This record gives sequence, C-alpha cells and structure tokens, in this order.
Amino acid sequence: MAEHDELRALSPDAYSGIRSLLHEVAGIELGARRQELVKARVAKRLRALGLASFDEYVARLAADPAEVPQMVDVLTTNKTSFFREPAHFEFVAEHGIPRWRSAGRRLRLWSAGCSSGEEPYSLAMTLLAHIGDSAAWDARILATDISPRVLDHARAGRYGSGALWGLPASMKKHFEACDGEVRLRDPVRELVQFARLNLLGEWPMRGPFDAIFCRNVMIYFDAPTRSELVQRFRRHLAPEGWLFVGHCESLGPAPAGLRAVAPATYVRCE
Ligand SMILES: C[S@@+](CC[C@H](N)C(=O)[O-])C[C@H]1O[C@@H](n2cnc3c(N)ncnc32)[C@H](O)[C@@H]1O
Repeated sequence: MAEHDELRALSPDAYSGIRSLLHEVAGIELGARRQELVKARVAKRLRALGLASFDEYVARLAADPAEVPQMVDVLTTNKTSFFREPAHFEFVAEHGIPRWRSAGRRLRLWSAGCSSGEEPYSLAMTLLAHIGDSAAWDARILATDISPRVLDHARAGRYGSGALWGLPASMKKHFEACDGEVRLRDPVRELVQFARLNLLGEWPMRGPFDAIFCRNVMIYFDAPTRSELVQRFRRHLAPEGWLFVGHCESLGPAPAGLRAVAPATYVRCE
C-alpha cells in the first residue's frame, strides 16, 4: 500500500480515540462524521513524526503526553477576520466607551478564543478610534487561545494584505507595510496581551472584566460544557459587564444571571 493510501485509512477506533481525546482535553466535539477533516489535519502530524498510520499516531498520543497539545493545535478551527460581526464593535463604541469614560477611564476586556488576533486588535482599534487621548486611559485587552500556533501569529501582528479588504480607511491607518505584508502599529499592539489558556482548565486571572468576547468558540463545545463556561464567564464579569458570543451561537433563553440586551450580547445582572 502506498504511503498516501495508508494515510487515507482512518480506522473507526483511531477516529474515536482522537475524537474523545479532543473532547476531553479541549471540550471540542467533532461529531460522528468529521473523518475527512481529521485525516487532512492530523496527516500533518503523521508526516512530522514519520508515522505511517493513524493507529500508530493514536498509540503515540497515549505514550507521549507532549503530542496531545500538538493534536489539539492542528484540530482547532481558527477562522477569524478583523471586525467580524461588526455590530459588537459598534455596541462597544456606542455603549461601552461612554460608560467606561464616566467610570474613570479604566477598562479590562477579554477576548477568549482570540485565534490569530484579529478580534482583540479590532477591539483595540475601536478603543483608539473613540477614546481620544489613550494616555489618559488605563485600558487593557487580554487575549487568550488554546493554540500556540495562532498565538505566535497574533503576537507577531502581521497579516496578508488581503486582511485589510473592506476595512474603513480610519482603521487601515493602524497598519504599516512590512515585507509584502501588513503589520499592526505599536499603539494597537500595546493594548493587547496574549496568553495561552485552555478554557476548560484553570483560569489564573480573577477579573473582573468589563466585557468578555467569546465568539465562535463555544459552537464547537457540547451543551453542558457551554452552559458551564457561560457561568464561569458570568462570574468573571464586573456587575453589568457584557458577554459577547458569536451571532450563530444561541445560548437559548438568557442563561441564569445574564440578560440579553442585543443580538448575541448579554449583560451580567446578578
Ligand atoms: C473560530 S476561532 C474564533 C476566533 C474569534 N473569536 C472570532 O470569532 O473570529 C475559535 C478559536 O477558539 C480556540 N479554542 C477552541 N477550543 C478552545 C479551548 N478549549 N480553550 C481555548 N481556546 C479554544 C481555537 O483555537 C480557535 O482559535
């Protein structure tokens, strides 16, 4: 059998081993029919490790705990873009900034599941567009993700020039050309601090946060994991703090202690 034929053979046992480990470690539920996705993405790890089959790879995962984060890294979906779901950034400009201005110009935001940084940097650009003299503010954005690969990208703050398509000129000014790509300028980068964090694990920070963005992340989790996470977020919000989730992620009727105030936007009410 040629090497690529062997790579194509993902046995039901190997799929179920990878699926349950991903769920246990990262909360991500692949479902019963994502074999093609797993084959395409995990094949990279087989090649990197010189393994000939997915069964060997599953044995490697059991023997070498250091491989588990590598598996999670290749299996996470990192699709994102600047000002994705723009209504949330408009909400921050319209409701958040006036509130934080009158409350002493101090704010703490968290982008949980930030991928390659477009979401927290969009928040930073929104702040800079509306707060005036940033030196008069104590503003910080924490941005976390489980994947070291996307965090490296985010910290570099460099993107293909296509990332700017559709951005208004007032936001493009925050980028400078850099070796055929674009790079975010320092005032935007300085507002954001990146850290690796598994949302299912311990959270070293206590908060409270004035707003938490966790968008297009919980969609990959099962319902009990989502509910538990939403309550953890609630407890990390300041009173009246906002939780933003992806517009296609329904939390159902507003979860306990949260009230819906706009599409995919909840406020802590207890
Ligand atoms: C589709 S991206 C969403 C990025 C951004 N929030 C947005 O809406 O554009 C989902 C991100 O969640 C991260 N993620 C998945 N499971 C996670 C977990 N258990 N802990 C932390 N991050 C996780 C993935 O690595 C990925 O970068």
